[in-house]
Amino acid sequence: MKKIMIMGNWKMNLIADEVDELLSGLKSYPVKAGILAGAAPSYTWLLKGQEQFAETNWQLAAQNVYVKEKGAYTGEVSAPMLKSLGCNYTLVGHSERRQIFQETEEAIREKIAILLAHEIKPILCLGETEEERNSGRAEEVVARQLREGLAALPKGTKLFPIAYEPVWAIGTGKHCDPQTAADMMVFIRQELAQAQQQFDLSELLLLYGGSVNGKNFQGYLETDQIDGALVGGASLKAEDFIAIIKVAEDFLHE
Ligand code: PGA
Repeated sequence: MKKIMIMGNWKMNLIADEVDELLSGLKSYPVKAGILAGAAPSYTWLLKGQEQFAETNWQLAAQNVYVKEKGAYTGEVSAPMLKSLGCNYTLVGHSERRQIFQETEEAIREKIAILLAHEIKPILCLGETEEERNSGRAEEVVARQLREGLAALPKGTKLFPIAYEPVWAIGTGKHCDPQTAADMMVFIRQELAQAQQQFDLSELLLLYGGSVNGKNFQGYLETDQIDGALVGGASLKAEDFIAIIKVAEDFLHE
């Protein structure tokens, strides 16, 4: 059965009381079969997430991970820690990490490797800037990020969710036209199918991210190329996020 993933990326938002309110609003909504709904709170709130999502179908994700198992890395959080907090997904390569924190392709590869070693699914984020799109280089940039990010994976690796997030559409309210996003998904699938590593694509989910909300999400699903959404701003209020999930449910049951 086709699955649709709706993952909320809370970024560096919300304080304790707000987190309690959001988590309780989310968990009171039963996630239906065919939908993978989840939230990526800050590290600080993962324990709350684990407690609130216990015995629900809600998925817990982290926004980042450090590349080492353990040791003298003050301020960092490891994959085994995330695993023990019940995280089953972790974002990797988000454009904010690439741009603001100068995250390199090498670090992205290392993060993917350590997550997979601990049975946490990465959600690899890719996407071009406005300038790159305007100069006709969107596909070239996405292909490079894809190739570099996956370069160290062994042959036949089962791929995880990949989120196409054009940088110019993130947090701007200027969502990418669904057909443009769908064309990029077709391109990503082609690139993956041709990769030397002969990846296992049976569980691949291609997500779109960038100003998704309950009003525009249907247009993406209707292209039949998009398996879900990575949602920033509209994931910070339970009713906004659940509105997106309902669009996915209606689409599945049409
Ligand atoms: P946005 O963020 O929905 O606020 O545009 C998306 C993201 O950064 O994943």
